[in-house]
Amino acid sequence: MIKFYRILLFCLVFFKISCSQTIDSDNKFDSKAMVVSAHPLASEIGINILKNGGNAADATIAVQFALAVVYPSAGNIGGGGFFVYRSTDGNFSTLDFREKAPLLATRDMYLDSNNKVVKDLSLYSHLAVGVPGTVDGMISIHKKFGQLPWEDLVQPAIDLATNGFELTRLEANKLNRFNKTNGRINKNSDYFKENYSKGDSISLPQLSKTLSLIRDHKRAGFYSGKTAKMLVKEMSLNGGKITQKDLDSYQSIWRDPIIGFYKGYKIISMSPPSSGGILLIQMLKMAEHFPLQDFGFHSLKSIHVMTEIEKLSFADRAKHLGDPDFYKVPEKLLIDSLYLLERINKINMDSSLLSSNIYAGEFNLKESEETTHFSIVDKYGNASSLTTTLNGSFGSGIIVDGAGFLLNNEMDDFSIQPGHANMYGLVGGEANSVEPTKRMLSSMTPTILEKDGNLFMVLGTPGGSTIITAVFQTIINIIDFDMSIEQAVNSPRFHHQWYPDEIKLESDIAKDSNLIFQLKAMNHNLNFVSSMNRVDAILVKKNKYFGGADNRGDDHVSYF
Ligand code: GLY
Repeated sequence: MIKFYRILLFCLVFFKISCSQTIDSDNKFDSKAMVVSAHPLASEIGINILKNGGNAADATIAVQFALAVVYPSAGNIGGGGFFVYRSTDGNFSTLDFREKAPLLATRDMYLDSNNKVVKDLSLYSHLAVGVPGTVDGMISIHKKFGQLPWEDLVQPAIDLATNGFELTRLEANKLNRFNKTNGRINKNSDYFKENYSKGDSISLPQLSKTLSLIRDHKRAGFYSGKTAKMLVKEMSLNGGKITQKDLDSYQSIWRDPIIGFYKGYKIISMSPPSSGGILLIQMLKMAEHFPLQDFGFHSLKSIHVMTEIEKLSFADRAKHLGDPDFYKVPEKLLIDSLYLLERINKINMDSSLLSSNIYAGEFNLKESEETTHFSIVDKYGNASSLTTTLNGSFGSGIIVDGAGFLLNNEMDDFSIQPGHANMYGLVGGEANSVEPTKRMLSSMTPTILEKDGNLFMVLGTPGGSTIITAVFQTIINIIDFDMSIEQAVNSPRFHHQWYPDEIKLESDIAKDSNLIFQLKAMNHNLNFVSSMNRVDAILVKKNKYFGGADNRGDDHVSYF
C-alpha cells in the first residue's frame, strides 16, 4: 500500500514537472508559492510548510534539514552556507553561516617539513573539516523570520530519516560511488548497507536521533551535549582539530548584502566571505558595455567576451577576496564602474588574453560536485535564496560516529599555500590564507533580482567556482536573450576562472564544430565537460511565479 502511494506520489510529481513546463512556456502559470530544490521530496516538504501557513524562511529551514537526509552529497547539518532573503516589504537580509577554521588551525597545517602540500590532507582527512555553521544558521533564520514553531520545521526531516525514503537513480549511483571510496572511513554508518538501486528505501536512524536532539534542544542539540561530544570524539580520535571550544564559539553572522545594477535590474547577492556577489556584479557590469543581444546567444563574440570578463574577475578573486573579518576586502572598489571600465579596456575582440598576462587590479587598499541551492517564494511575497555545502561531494566523507551526519571538507577552500590550486583549480594568496577562526573564501552566489522595486528573480546553483559564471549566464539568458526560466537554467554553459587558462564547455556547445574551430583560432584553450551546475530559480512576471529546475539533476519545482 505504501509502495502504491509512493508510486502515485512520483506520478504526481512528474505530472507537475511537465505541467509547469507547458504552462511556463504558455505564460499562464499562476501559483501562490513555489519551492525549487535539488530533490523532489525536499521541494514537497517545503511546499507543505508554505501551505500550512509558514513563510519562505520557515520553508527554507525545513528544506535545509530535509536535504541533509535525502541529498547527503551536499544537503547537510555538518557544513555551512549563505542565505539571501527579501521580505515582502522589500527589505533584504543576508546570513553568513559559513564554516570556520578551528582555533587550533595554522597557516601551514597542510604542508610537510619540505613545505610541500600533503596530498588530500585538506580534502579527505579530519583536518579537512571546518567548524559547521548550518544548525546555528537555521536557528538565526528562525529567530529573525520564523512564523511556525521550530519543531514543525525539523520534524519532516526526522520523519524521512526514521521512516525511510526511496532513492532516485542519480542518488543510488552517487551513494554507490561514495561507498566505494569512503568505506574505509566509516564502515558503521547507516549509509553502508548494500549496493543501492533506484527505488531502494533507505532509513538513517542515527541521523534521525541527531535531528531529534536539534528539534528538542535547538543549538544545544548540536553544539553541546551528546552530538557535540560525538563530534569532538570523532576529531580527537583521528587527528582532527575541532574542539568543544570551537563549537561553543561558532556564530552565524548577518552581513550587508552586495548590491549592484544591470540594465535597470537590481542585483542583491552575498558579500564576503563569499566571492559570489562581488564577482557576479563585476561580470554583469562589465558585460553591460557589450551588445550581447546583437552578438547572439552562444555566438563566437558573446562567448569570447563573456569568457574574457570571467577571467578578469577571477584574477581579482585570487588576490583581493577573503574573510572580511580578517582581511580588508576592497568591496566598493571591486564593483566600481570606472574601475570595471578600465578592466574591460584590456579585452581584445579578436584574440583571447593569456591568463598569464592578466593580473588582479591594484587599489589603494585604504578603503574602508558539491553544493546545493534552493529558491523559495511564499504567498506573502517573501523570497529566499539559499546555497549550502559540504564542499566536495559528501564533503570529507567522514560521518560522525554514532551521530550519522557527514562532515564538510571546507578547509580546502582556503588557499592552503600561495598559488596552490584547490579542488576547483582556484588559486589564492594572503587574503584567503588559513588562520584560526577565519572563514574560508566561497563562490556561493545565492541571488535575488528586483525590477522597478518588485521581486523579479530568485536563483543560485552548486558547482564550486562555476557557480558564479552559471548565475551570471542565467541572468544574461533571461535579461538579454529573453528566455523562459526553464530555457535559461537548462541551456548549456561555459566557464573560465583565469587559472587554469581554459574555457570549460558543456557538450551541447561543443557540438557546434564551426564555433569550436573559431574559438581555437582566437587562442582559447578548450576543455569539454559533460555537465556543470544545477541552477534552481524562480522568475516573477506579473505576480506569477515561474519555476526553473535544472534538468541536469533530480531538481524539482513544487508549487500551489
Ligand atoms: N565549497 C565551495 C564554495 O564554497 O565555493
